[in-house]
Amino acid sequence: MPTDSAPPRPCPFSGNSRALGVSPIQAYYRSVDTRGRALRDLRLSVTDRCDFRCNYCMPEATYTWLPRDDILSFEELELVVRAFADAGVTKVRLTGGEPLLRRDLAVLVARIAADPRITDISLTTNGVHLVDQAAALRAAGLHRVTVSLDTMRADRHEAITRRANHQGVLDGISAIGAAGLSGTKINTVVIRGTNDDELIDLLEYGSSVGAEVRFIEYMDVGGATGWTCDAVVTSDEMLTRLGAAYGPIRAAEVRPAAPARRYQLPDGRVFGIVASTTEPFCSTCDRSRVTADGMWFRCLYAATGTDLRALVRGGADAARLRNTIQEQWQERTDQGAVDRLS
Ligand code: GTP
Ligand code: 5AD
Ligand code: SF4
Repeated sequence: MPTDSAPPRPCPFSGNSRALGVSPIQAYYRSVDTRGRALRDLRLSVTDRCDFRCNYCMPEATYTWLPRDDILSFEELELVVRAFADAGVTKVRLTGGEPLLRRDLAVLVARIAADPRITDISLTTNGVHLVDQAAALRAAGLHRVTVSLDTMRADRHEAITRRANHQGVLDGISAIGAAGLSGTKINTVVIRGTNDDELIDLLEYGSSVGAEVRFIEYMDVGGATGWTCDAVVTSDEMLTRLGAAYGPIRAAEVRPAAPARRYQLPDGRVFGIVASTTEPFCSTCDRSRVTADGMWFRCLYAATGTDLRALVRGGADAARLRNTIQEQWQERTDQGAVDRLS
């Protein structure tokens, strides 16, 4: 979630921002921003609630959740997704909080899946509710699941998430495959002194369950109130450590606009690293995010957004929403992660 920017701290991560430019070919797309980036990927938060208290995301013991009436209804969410699809979006990722806390989420998935322009519907979850919901979500048309898992040790999991349910997450990951879903990913936020000694254990676990592990550089964003520069384990450092354990690591297939760079071990296994802190991917960023109460942010680090709920509840139809989305996307200049490095 976007937060107020903290004052810049002295930090060695600088000097690797890429040149940003407008590609003439991209200018033919309907929704292209000032840096030539098309709008393709929508991250839709369906609830602000979470039942974990991960220390890098929701560190407080208690939160004041949004009142129910403030949250977009399924009908409103469907309208918003249709408008984004009209503006060029083809991928929708359901997020939270914890998205599986939203009642009847499979109903929403089915409504989104009914739009043939949305070719990829995915979910980022803490995993514990998958045992109950994976089969229904797949039947509704969900394509892929990404589960957050930072450790293979139950005691550490409890310390990181302040919940004692490590086994519940592992069971949830098993339930994804049992439901017949593929393309599963595991997101691991790597924090020095917390879990950076588990890269190999997590990679091996991912292989054992057929999931691609992505190691994420710890970001100074959202609820990361304990973030320090020293706690960041850089992509380079992770690669050095994994190379020492497994042998030479090669770059694998490049997917433009994806936050993760993919790598291959000598035995062919593939993993990812999301280097948002040291190697921002702003130059190809095609993503937008809508909060559970309908605020549309065009950058992870954006301090201001657009109140789509006000438009929807004021009677705007899909065409009006699409016009607003296109106009504001065309004005987009954001490159929040790059700006933080400079
Ligand atoms: P795929 O479609 O499977 O590639 O999904 P994804 O990697 O976009 O989604 P996921 O929610 O798994 O995000 C992985 C990580 O990428 C997150 O934990 C963040 O660290 C990072 N990330 C996601 N979105 C953004 C973004 O908009 N900006 C930046 N800087 N980092 C992001
Ligand atoms: N730094 C890096 N990744 C984070 N996530 C949440 N907070 C942070 C942070 N401060 C990750 C979660 C989840 C994904 C959506 O974002 O692990 O997998
Ligand atoms: Fe996109 Fe902003 Fe994230 Fe950069 S920081 S990748 S512009 S959302």
